[in-house]
Amino acid sequence: MRIAVFASGTGSNAEALIQAAKENQLGGEVVLLVSDKPEAGALKKAESYGIKTVALALKSFATKAEYEAKVVEHLQDHKVDFLCLAGYMRLVGSTLLTAYEGRIVNIHPSLLPAFPGLDAVGQALTAGVSETGVTIHFVDAGMDTGPIIAQETVLIQKGDTSEDVMKKIQAVEHQLYPRTVKQLMESKDVGGDGHNE
Ligand code: GRF
Repeated sequence: MRIAVFASGTGSNAEALIQAAKENQLGGEVVLLVSDKPEAGALKKAESYGIKTVALALKSFATKAEYEAKVVEHLQDHKVDFLCLAGYMRLVGSTLLTAYEGRIVNIHPSLLPAFPGLDAVGQALTAGVSETGVTIHFVDAGMDTGPIIAQETVLIQKGDTSEDVMKKIQAVEHQLYPRTVKQLMESKDVGGDGHNE
């Protein structure tokens, strides 16, 4: 499988996926890093591994559909089969969803359906819960609403700051995301259709 990773930020999850692929632990190859932020750290990270990158600012396009059509063009140029969103801070629109139906996954820093959307860790701390976690899910048109594939719990200790919780979450994310993608690549639903080399 040829995988594209989508990231808007620092790209620590993108890096975890790229590293796993290099070690043959992803069940596929990361062939492209896509960002909607030309200044995203994720782009430099990917380049340092020799991964091709494309940065497209939404504001350079008249509509989101045109932006996504250009993204799809790049994905098709690189013969991408599967998309992993890793801190891609946009709702996926119908153009991209239709082109990659059932082949887009996302990672979110909470135990969905709890705390969807922005600042999931802040939401958990405000709610005063003693555990939160990480969710990997298929992407649909909603905000963090698609079918859940995998989850792992992270404990919140008394006095934990948002940075403390984020650190614990990221440690889990960097293991859980590559492991889950590998399982998907090996599963009949996604990878077992002859694309899996
Ligand atoms: C991660 O916590 C992920 O769950 C969320 O955005 C963050 C991205 O972090 N969707 P990074 O850019 O991979 O370091």
